Amino acid sequence: MFIVKEIQTAAYLFASILFILSLGGLSSQESAKRGVVYGIIGMIVAIIATVLGQGVAGHIYIIVAIAIASVIGLLLARKVEMTAMPQLVAILHSFVGLAAVLVGFGSYLDPKSHELQGAAHTIHLVEVFVGIFIGAITFTGSIIAWGKLDGKVPSKPWSFKGLQTMNLLLLAACTVLGVLYCKAEGTDGMLYLGIMTVIASFIGVVLVMAIGGGDMPVVVSMLNSYSGWAAAAAGFMLGNDLLIVTGALVGSSGAILSMHMCHAMNRSFFSVIFANGAGSGSGGEKKAMEGEVTALNHEEVAALLKEAKSVVIVPGYGMAVAKAQYPIFDMVQTLRKANKKVRFAIHPVAGRLPGHMNVLLAEANVPYDIVLEMDEINEDMPETDVVMVIGANDVVNPGAQDDPASSIYGMPVIEAWKAEKVIIMKRSMSAGYSGEDNPLFYKPNSEMLYGDAKASVEKIMGFLKA
Ligand code: TAP
Repeated sequence: MFIVKEIQTAAYLFASILFILSLGGLSSQESAKRGVVYGIIGMIVAIIATVLGQGVAGHIYIIVAIAIASVIGLLLARKVEMTAMPQLVAILHSFVGLAAVLVGFGSYLDPKSHELQGAAHTIHLVEVFVGIFIGAITFTGSIIAWGKLDGKVPSKPWSFKGLQTMNLLLLAACTVLGVLYCKAEGTDGMLYLGIMTVIASFIGVVLVMAIGGGDMPVVVSMLNSYSGWAAAAAGFMLGNDLLIVTGALVGSSGAILSMHMCHAMNRSFFSVIFANGAGSGSGGEKKAMEGEVTALNHEEVAALLKEAKSVVIVPGYGMAVAKAQYPIFDMVQTLRKANKKVRFAIHPVAGRLPGHMNVLLAEANVPYDIVLEMDEINEDMPETDVVMVIGANDVVNPGAQDDPASSIYGMPVIEAWKAEKVIIMKRSMSAGYSGEDNPLFYKPNSEMLYGDAKASVEKIMGFLKA
């Protein structure tokens, strides 16, 4: 059974609107669930309209492939830990890149595409070339990003002098190959296309290898953007309007998100994506840690909280690892019942993916009105009695403000040290994702509370209730 072209176009338009509404919904926590539902409906409409489109054959194979992929996707999504989400996202981006490469080669080898004449033929060849180029960079870049986020590839930036020149030369080589490929007859350009694919795959590897530590969030979102452009390129090759619209939506929203993240981290967008200096540190000698590290026990922390009138909680990656958001919310409710002002301070890159902390807190039903962004809460720090830093590290590192040699120098941070008392809850003195030591631990108003975040909060609760 086929549907007529007009119905397919209408369905594509409907799906595009749903995707736009979905993106709009995802922009705030209150409407995020609705946004996801719009996205799911849009995708179902898109798949049905494409599969039932004219000229599509082998429906049985398509249905079997979709069924197998859906089961794999469902199992993966149920199994994956929230902390491993960025890795999953990165590897999924690599599939989009690979798909664009395969569509590109398929499209080039399709005899019908060589029936095109004149400008139409040249445009199609360029579409194929650009699509494979972006797809190959996305494919290998995303695999490296997955490896870095999963700890399989060292997260330290790997770079060398002349890296930018090498990348420019490789880009120039790809341009020359592109010209030769466009001039080739029939499918004779296959060799040029193949060499370009190898070069682009290599560029993808070196681009992401050169980025490290604190800049990885931007890379993940940038690869998201690349995967969108790769999908849009595949849409051009296949003549599928919906794929072009969807790809452009993903591509542009990913790029905008990357720019916002760079802004939040006080990084130059271009220096991050072209790995032009991993971080803004001067590379000079780092400040030595001054002061003494002191620690409290759970009972002492509970006593401090009982005394406090205002409390700010700064969650970080460790909260996600410990799954401490549920007992934290219990503790917040207990403190609020005792008439204390309790709020959360969220850093834009806390955790391992954009909005990581917001999602976890929403999961634990923390009301949105007590979850504040870094900029909203920083000015309240001097009037705060107790700041509880729970499994966070880089996002409260004062070195970002006063140590020019630090790799996170220039990144705005939550100014926890300005509060009356800071309690840092983590398991050890080890560094955060950026690998930088944290002078906050050595401040006279800071106290460590060692241990797993969830177990610690539960113990504090025991003393608060007693
Ligand atoms: P981090 O700086 O990575 O610090 C997390 C801290 O949590 C660690 O120092 C660790 O110390 C502690 N921890 C781990 N497991 C714990 C547990 N079970 N209980 C208690 N503490 C635990 O995290 P952050 O402050 O959230 O900063 C995020 C960092 O990740 C930034 O550098 C950011 O650029 C980077 N990053 C962010 C993203 C996005 S998009 N958000 C993506 C990739 C990378 P112990 O080992 O001593 O416990």
